[in-house]
Amino acid sequence: NYYAILMAGGVGSRFWPISTEEFPKQFHDMLGTGDTLIQKTFQRLSHLIPKENIFILTNERYNDLVFEQLPEVTQRQVVLEPAMRNTAPCILYASLKIQKENPDAIMIVAPSDHWIEDEATFSKNVKQAFEFCSKNNALMTLGIQPTFPNTGYGYIEFDKTSANTIKSVNQFREKPDYETAKEFIAQGNFLWNAGIFMWSVKSVIEAFQNNQPNLYALFENGISAYNTDLEDSFIKENYPKAENISVDYAIMETSKNVFVIAAEFDWNDLGTWGSLYDKLDKDAANNAVVHARTLTEDASGNMIRTKKDKIVVIDGINDYIIVDKDEVLLIYPKTKEQDIKKVLQKVKDKF
Ligand code: GDD
Ligand code: MG
Repeated sequence: NYYAILMAGGVGSRFWPISTEEFPKQFHDMLGTGDTLIQKTFQRLSHLIPKENIFILTNERYNDLVFEQLPEVTQRQVVLEPAMRNTAPCILYASLKIQKENPDAIMIVAPSDHWIEDEATFSKNVKQAFEFCSKNNALMTLGIQPTFPNTGYGYIEFDKTSANTIKSVNQFREKPDYETAKEFIAQGNFLWNAGIFMWSVKSVIEAFQNNQPNLYALFENGISAYNTDLEDSFIKENYPKAENISVDYAIMETSKNVFVIAAEFDWNDLGTWGSLYDKLDKDAANNAVVHARTLTEDASGNMIRTKKDKIVVIDGINDYIIVDKDEVLLIYPKTKEQDIKKVLQKVKDKF
């Protein structure tokens, strides 16, 4: 009865110039290991879930990329979105499909861009959550011990009186402002939301029904278990009408039956060049290098990526992102990594 929804429809614009709209980060080998992020996520999930029950949710323009990189999947497993509407609509769409196929399904929803090394412990925590979801009407999330007031994450206030591994959640707050995030962390009983959810298909659909009645009504009658022409035209017409909203705002903030399990493994959401730098092995001078051959003098803390075996010589440059791809060369301070999104827009406007 185990199913997975792998979300792979984001654009990853802070990883420009490697990640682009035509070819986003989840389809790149960001870690330099030989596998792309979506391949790594698929492998991680396949230890827990029968391969044929792993559904890939992505924009229709990435259909070919999915089949190139995951040749073992069939079209039944690939749920294509004709428009970008964030994670709530695509999760509901895929859940309705899965429910038609197996009303007793227990699911994990996983982003395609996370770094998790300790796969055994990841599997252990997910299995604990699955067990809980098969017995309770619960929306479960994986919590991460926070280290600083990151405003890009969801925050989970758990019941501190509980000694159980799985704790009930008093409050789920998506992307609070900096002051609020600081207060949350000071209180001690808050975790970051890893963005990995577990629930029964029944519970998640009920949550949409109760908290997003318009979205639910939009999809309710048009989805079937298998891809049919009728469903295709239904989705083409109706999916773009869905509200652009993430699952965090749509059901996690508003539901009462949210539970959390604290992750016992190291986790990183590979969102920026700096977070990638943190997770990569460093050379003797503390530079993280993917694909390049480097000669460095007084240069440390740099994140360097080029095409295979390109020779990079740097002197007197510290804590920079240096990325070379086709017609673009980016040399940008790591401290301003969040601005790459805006820079990309400026580049598009100018060239
Ligand atoms: N299929 C599909 N369609 N996938 C999407 C879409 C979409 O329209 N939009 C985003 N995704 C995918 C992204 O590729 C990513 O893998 C995942 O859904 C999450 O989207 P993000 O845009 O990266 O979300 P976020 O980082 O702002 O916030 C989420 O993740 C944080 C942890 O990384 C939230 O769940 C936060 O609460 C959480 O802390
Ligand atoms: Mg993210």
